[in-house]
Amino acid sequence: MLIAGNWKMFKGPQETRAFVDSFQPPEGVEVVLCPPFVSLEAALTGPHTIYAQNVHWEGSGAYTGEISPEMLLELGVQGALVGHSERRQLFGETDEMVARRTRSALESGLGVIACAGETLEQRESGDTELVLKIQVEAIAFAAGEYEKLVIAYEPVWAIGTGKTATPEQAEEAHRFIKGLTDRPVLYGGSVKPENAAELLDQPSIDGALVGGASLDPDSFAAICRAASPS
Ligand code: PGA
Repeated sequence: MLIAGNWKMFKGPQETRAFVDSFQPPEGVEVVLCPPFVSLEAALTGPHTIYAQNVHWEGSGAYTGEISPEMLLELGVQGALVGHSERRQLFGETDEMVARRTRSALESGLGVIACAGETLEQRESGDTELVLKIQVEAIAFAAGEYEKLVIAYEPVWAIGTGKTATPEQAEEAHRFIKGLTDRPVLYGGSVKPENAAELLDQPSIDGALVGGASLDPDSFAAICRAASPS
């Protein structure tokens, strides 16, 4: 099981250091923290695996505001999220950009958690599988034979809304994604200590990508315990 915490635009270096000092995940669970770029170095002072929240496809160049895989590797960062729905919806990320980021990060040796998911409108109009197929196939094609790829299924309507997909809805989407790629699939969207166990119990759910509930070390540790074998 892999449990990743996406901190979004929360926690500067100081709060990050306080978090890593007090966060105690259980044994037997793979944990990844994804702080903002400016807090990566502070996060790396702890014993945890650290991913960035995004990564560019070029090694260097005139790309104001972007960070390359090489820069992350130099810092000791082990991977990156790509294609988060907030990037897609608020910053105009396309499937092509997500695919290029995925390919370049994997090629350079970083791990990648690539996100896919439908909006409420797409779900209601019956297009969930079409959207997932387009997004996941672009990512899987870009990844090719590179191994360090994990998919995160994050229904957009469940992110930060308190509305979680039911375990059955999540399982159905995960099963569909697993028909497109053999990579592990995390569930994301309002995962909390109270609902983590029933989601993680589903046979096609391989872990979780947690936003809001990953900001508090105790609630994030509680979610990690729900994924722990012991
Ligand atoms: P949430 O966010 O857990 O706050 O819904 C999940 C995510 O955006 O990765």
